[in-house]
Amino acid sequence: MDNLRIIGGNQLEGTIRISGAKNAVLPLMIASLLSKEKLILKNVPTLQDVNTLQNILEHHGVICTNEQLEKTLSISASHITNLVAHYMLVSQMRASFWVIGPLLARCGSASVSLPGGCSIGIRPVDFIIAGLEKLGAEISMASGYVIATVKNRLRGNRIKLPKTSVGATHTIMMAATLAKGETVIENAAREPEIVDVANCLKSMGACIEGAGTNKIYIQGVDSLHGTTHYVMPDRIEAGTYAMAVAMTGGNVLLEGIHKELLSVPITILEESGLEVDYTENGIRVRCNACTLSPCNITTAPFPDFPTDLQAQLTSMMTQASGISSITESIFENRFTHVGELCRLGAKISTSGQRCVLIKGKTKLTGAPVMATDLRASVSLVLAGLVAQGTTTISRVYHLDRGFENLEDKLSQCGAMIERFSCSRVY
Ligand code: EPZ
Repeated sequence: MDNLRIIGGNQLEGTIRISGAKNAVLPLMIASLLSKEKLILKNVPTLQDVNTLQNILEHHGVICTNEQLEKTLSISASHITNLVAHYMLVSQMRASFWVIGPLLARCGSASVSLPGGCSIGIRPVDFIIAGLEKLGAEISMASGYVIATVKNRLRGNRIKLPKTSVGATHTIMMAATLAKGETVIENAAREPEIVDVANCLKSMGACIEGAGTNKIYIQGVDSLHGTTHYVMPDRIEAGTYAMAVAMTGGNVLLEGIHKELLSVPITILEESGLEVDYTENGIRVRCNACTLSPCNITTAPFPDFPTDLQAQLTSMMTQASGISSITESIFENRFTHVGELCRLGAKISTSGQRCVLIKGKTKLTGAPVMATDLRASVSLVLAGLVAQGTTTISRVYHLDRGFENLEDKLSQCGAMIERFSCSRVY
């Protein structure tokens, strides 16, 4: 099992190329099921979640050709041979549940395992199921599987999501592209990844208006054709590295990221003391032994502060001078990183179920810690970059799900970080 060893104290200087977005490439891969023709994705990141989803799609009879050096993934769903998404596969990567929409729309039926919970919360999929029923699907449950069928064809409808949901927006939007008539999704998620997927679907022949707003209109068509689509950059990765620079000090160009993907988090980082310049190649972040100011934020759907940067900000605020409060409004258990950060000397207390108070500036000291989920694991890396001495992080398979070449990107900017394998980290 892989581990990371970090010796803290170095500043970060150089350039980090931001990879394709995990939370765009996954729904884009699933969208391939909507067409008999080939979908070619460019700027595909090398991530465990991509490999897992590729395995799931191949289980449905899809042919995937992954050219990792060219960052290109060709997906051909010309013959879907299996309409069952098994528990052992879906439970590895929750977003794979979203295949239910395209399979139902294209083939008229699907049997997909409920994904189950994960460390950050129960994460139900009831909005997705209700949305597909509104499109005319007949849904039953058996042995932990959602069995969906539709006579003839899905029919467009007006669907108002009870609360903003990225997965429900993706899944219903994809299914609606092949429904008969118009579908309107109200209270739709506005994340940039929704826009990226909508743009890809439109280049496949779908009729979609309003992606990126809270009301999306989809006019169903009879079929979709293939296309080539360049995956958008990963705003969560970029925000993570910006916080790393704020903590260590230094000067790094985050290459390939655009301002509008990250405006609220960047504003909060600037208010805390990070210097930011927008260039034609990306966003340059600088922090010269600055004293960071505390913050008070609540995570919320785009365009507000993303829950996927919450753990990283918690780590960063250990280095701010004062008391910060961070409230997690999206998921009910997204503070698993707090206990591990406290092992490094952080002074963090909980204030109710969903809020933590971080007392800074705190001197962190290296220690063995354990990753518990994707974003929690990278918050430990950030802390290790500033902790005195050596920090070892176990279970970094969590990290490999969503951060491409993290240790290479950081070490090329001067961080003392290396990967090693062993059964025990001490
Ligand atoms: C997506 O998850 C992202 N995953 C998550 O990123 C991200 O944190 C989340 O959106 C919120 O932005 C991908 O894009 C692959 P939701 P998703 O549906 O779609 C509740 C990461 O670290 N809800 O927007 O699963 C749900 O419990 C991951 O990259 C229902 O109640 O999240 C949550 O409280 C973690 N019923 C809220 O809505 C439903 O049917 C928002 O969840 C669906 C959701």
